[in-house]
Amino acid sequence: MDFKHLISSAAALSSIQADALVVVIETEQRDPSLDPAVATLIDDAVKGGDLQLKAGRNVYFHRPAGLKAQRLVVAVAAPSAAGEVKTFKAALAQALSVLKGGGAKHVVVALASSAAVGAVHAEAVTAAAGDATYLYRKTKPSAGAAPLLQKLSLVCDKATAREVQQGLQRGAAIGAGVGLAREFANMPGNHCTPSFLADQARALGKSHGLSVQVLDRKAVEKLGMGAFVAVAQGSAEPLKFIVMRYDGAAKTVAPVVLVGKGITFDTGGISIKPSAEMDEMKYDMGGAASVFGTMRAIVELKPKLNLVCIVPSCDNMPSGTAVKPGDVVTSMSGQTIEILNTDAEGRLILCDALTYAERFKPAVVVDIATLTGACVIALGHHHSGLFTADDEIADTMLQASRRALDPCWRMPLDEEYDEALKSNFADMANVGGRAGGSITAARFLSRFTGKYRWAHLDIAGTAWKSGAAKGATGRPVPLLTHFVLAQQK
Ligand code: BES
Ligand code: MN
Ligand code: ZN
Repeated sequence: MDFKHLISSAAALSSIQADALVVVIETEQRDPSLDPAVATLIDDAVKGGDLQLKAGRNVYFHRPAGLKAQRLVVAVAAPSAAGEVKTFKAALAQALSVLKGGGAKHVVVALASSAAVGAVHAEAVTAAAGDATYLYRKTKPSAGAAPLLQKLSLVCDKATAREVQQGLQRGAAIGAGVGLAREFANMPGNHCTPSFLADQARALGKSHGLSVQVLDRKAVEKLGMGAFVAVAQGSAEPLKFIVMRYDGAAKTVAPVVLVGKGITFDTGGISIKPSAEMDEMKYDMGGAASVFGTMRAIVELKPKLNLVCIVPSCDNMPSGTAVKPGDVVTSMSGQTIEILNTDAEGRLILCDALTYAERFKPAVVVDIATLTGACVIALGHHHSGLFTADDEIADTMLQASRRALDPCWRMPLDEEYDEALKSNFADMANVGGRAGGSITAARFLSRFTGKYRWAHLDIAGTAWKSGAAKGATGRPVPLLTHFVLAQQK
């Protein structure tokens, strides 16, 4: 698939050869510079009541009169000042779904005014194309053949061609990362095991020249990862502690470290979850999937920076060997933890990974986790939760999220919330009460991050969708990729 093709010329839209042309009208009034043949078709459709010049509307023409393209979709987006690029992306996604199932292999995308096309549009195009062509078939080969769309081109001006081409490049890399994250997260727990993830890390290392290290139970026990081991001990599936390194800069350059929660299935353990919708806990490795996806994007873009990805991975199961409520374990940091609820396992595997991260003398550490149901209650399914005490990192992250069309929202992280984690039997308990559950979880993690700059992303609400369209989203790979790229000096 080639979603990186650029058409930078003054040629009229009507002369473009393609299976389908998608024209996004960005303003609700027709742009005067629009190609006359396309303009005539639009006016006609408006007159006939087939198109309203309102955001979200579109119309399809087969063999449009006066155009070389075989098909034309006109899609209306909100004025760019009000809606930014996200309405362009939404209009485009709709246009692609109109074409889905049809015969178009090569689609050309244009804005009414090509001068307005920039790198952000390019990224939106590749993201929409990736979404339109992703199909989960791993355990459902009968899902059919991959969608027909093979090539996507974007029309832009010569003056901005370089910038737009870079956007397409970045977008395609992010798209590949999102696709990988979706694929891993969609795979069921009996396929996507810790060992599977370890194998995938080795494969990625081999194909892209990463150094990859996988630690087993003995090795992490030796390191003193008592919290991680406690979670894993209830499962027959062996734990894996995965470390991938991309070296794009001198050894002396402090790396960015990403830590992804890799619970390949979360039953809750002895504090077992209700059975309704428990299948969705196969997505509890969504943080790990996003870390893999980000690494996949970065190896393609080859920025001059160093990146370390850490994935602690295991199942959380109830069994005769499982950790019990009230058990006290010693983390790698030396701090003891009373495990009052075995379902708060994410923070237990992450805390040891966060301590391990110290050895890289990181410039910044970001952990990504489907950590709390409370975050879903707070923010729903649109924004990921961002927790950091560092205003500069927060700003960079929020900017990256806007740029990547992958929203996150900063949450509080005040020390007053620590009260909830007090224990009579250990340095801390692994749960607070129900109140502010995503914040107390973040406060728990913060106790292991004293030696570097740190941010935490709770993606419990954004990593997958429930219902009829059940499936992984690949978020927050776009956000993380932009954040990592922004760390390039
Ligand atoms: N993986 C879950 C969090 C989760 C819940 C993600 C629902 C997505 C949807 C996590 O391990 C968990 O079980 N958290 C508990 C914490 C509680 C016991 C303090 C939760 O949110 O209920
Ligand atoms: Mn849990
Ligand atoms: Zn979990």
